[in-house]
Amino acid sequence: MCGIVGYVGEREALPFLTEGLRRLEYRGYDSAGVAVLGPSLRIVRASGKIAALADRLRTEEPNGTTGIAHTRWATHGPPSEANAHPHADCRHRAAIVHNGIIENYGELKGELAARGHRFASETDSEVLAHLLEEGLQAGKSLADALASALNRVRGTYGVVAISEDHPGRLAAARLGSPLVVGIGRDEYFVASDAAAILGHASGVVHLKDGELVEASAEGYVVRSLVSAPVDGTVERLEGTVAGLQKNGHPHFMLKEIHEQPDVLRNVLRGRVDMEAGTSILGGLRDVGDRLASLDRLSIVACGSAYYAGLIGKRMIEEWAGIPVEVDVASEYRYRDPIVTAHTAVCAVSQSGETADTLAALREAKRKGALTIGLVNVVGSAVARETDAGIFTHAGPEISVASTKAFLAQVATLALLAVHLGRRRGLPSASARAILSELERLPRLIASVLEQAAAFRTLAREYGAERDFFYLGRGYGLPLALEGALKLKEIAYVHAEGYGAGELKHGPISLVDAAFPSLVIAPRDSVYEKTRSAIEQIRARGGRVLALTDEGNADLDGLAAQVIRVPHVSEALFPLVGIVPLQLFAYYSAVQRGLDPDQPRNLAKSVTVE
Ligand code: F6R
Repeated sequence: MCGIVGYVGEREALPFLTEGLRRLEYRGYDSAGVAVLGPSLRIVRASGKIAALADRLRTEEPNGTTGIAHTRWATHGPPSEANAHPHADCRHRAAIVHNGIIENYGELKGELAARGHRFASETDSEVLAHLLEEGLQAGKSLADALASALNRVRGTYGVVAISEDHPGRLAAARLGSPLVVGIGRDEYFVASDAAAILGHASGVVHLKDGELVEASAEGYVVRSLVSAPVDGTVERLEGTVAGLQKNGHPHFMLKEIHEQPDVLRNVLRGRVDMEAGTSILGGLRDVGDRLASLDRLSIVACGSAYYAGLIGKRMIEEWAGIPVEVDVASEYRYRDPIVTAHTAVCAVSQSGETADTLAALREAKRKGALTIGLVNVVGSAVARETDAGIFTHAGPEISVASTKAFLAQVATLALLAVHLGRRRGLPSASARAILSELERLPRLIASVLEQAAAFRTLAREYGAERDFFYLGRGYGLPLALEGALKLKEIAYVHAEGYGAGELKHGPISLVDAAFPSLVIAPRDSVYEKTRSAIEQIRARGGRVLALTDEGNADLDGLAAQVIRVPHVSEALFPLVGIVPLQLFAYYSAVQRGLDPDQPRNLAKSVTVE
């Protein structure tokens, strides 16, 4: 979802800005633009892909050492050059780029128009350029003009401003939309995602909500939007530029699927204490007392992270005996949830910036819950706003569809379940068995990845299908939901994830020869029940693609195709079983001529409600 980059320093801004935009391409966008001060303001924008903007820039190359750039994902006003950012003020002396939503833009636009401002776009963001203009014309510094503009708006923002009135400076602020400041030598970078500044900056300041930074080649100051300077803590910039490349894979999604054995090793590294038979989660140390008196845990998350939460629920209830509810974050915040002093709320999020998840978390905090973040991106809002947390260590996930981040979430939830379990009577021998099986899984996942070509063939066989059921029971149900989500979001195939036991309560009426079902049927405690769902489908002429474990020949005559993965215990099956589903979705998208990394209408990090 919308990307921002900005530069101020002594070098030409444009090369960094265009490279930064390319690195943020994965987040999803429909138009792009840059503004450079050198010394007069030049703005170049284009609808469509960055390649279209790059074409323009070849002929119109704006020079200067201060600049901002943006990839836009349309919310107010369709994708077009006029609606693309940066937006200028009436004088064409100042420009802004903005992520987020200005809720009172209608009212502000009316006021500004009455004072003579002329609007050039249909966006909500443009009001910021005109409010900024008023501050600048009143003789304010760039930072003060931006602060007074922002004090007029309701909504969310990551925003960066430059102006001819203050050459060689930029000002940026955040509220509910991420922004980082990269620290270089005599140069500073801002970006909505640290991926844009990797390899350029040595350290990074994660702006907090309500903070504003002003930077020039001479230095930077972080202050609160309402008052005095604050200490912007400089942190190490995690990650490598290599992590942003495809390393020989045709798509990031395939690369990330193949990274999963290593991701699992990273999740487990330093966290398994086999002698004590427990998992070591340093981020929970300070809240040990509250964890000891926990009587309820709520997991809040969206999309794939929500499905990971459903798997986590079963593990925590089974191993720790704590009742767990899992909520779609967008529902949790509006349903007046019951929170007591003994409730913990765990937000599961790859980006740590998902607006709904953050809002649910804040609601839980307001009601007095202990809040725990299970997050991939270090320095993200969820990581900063929770009382305690566990990082999922999946590394940067570029492809829009979650794959390795999902696997890391499930594995981290397994560690959390063991951790809580050991405080609640889970025998050390049982914990050891779980942990040593987890340690064996990277090898087993690698063996599934070796069969990748078989999934390409399968995807070809099902390449003309328009509908799919994904069915499972027990731990297989969230897996079915996640598998269906993968297929629909990247291959645009209508896929319904359903409990296999629910089939007979309605959806079975859809089953016929043109509506295949992928049934998750490992030899677990509900295998016979799942098998009977397969029988029911077959009896109605439905075609079944079954996912089971090695050594099970029982489905051979029944299912049209059988996918086999190594046998693992019931609770950990999702960590192995997810891999074929990811590969099947990936090859289904490729086979349909689609780009799995950038599915239509989707953005990597959903920072608006
Ligand atoms: C699906 C997918 C999304 C995300 C969801 C939550 O492949 O990627 O459903 O899982 O938008 O995002 P995070 O985990 O960043 O909060």
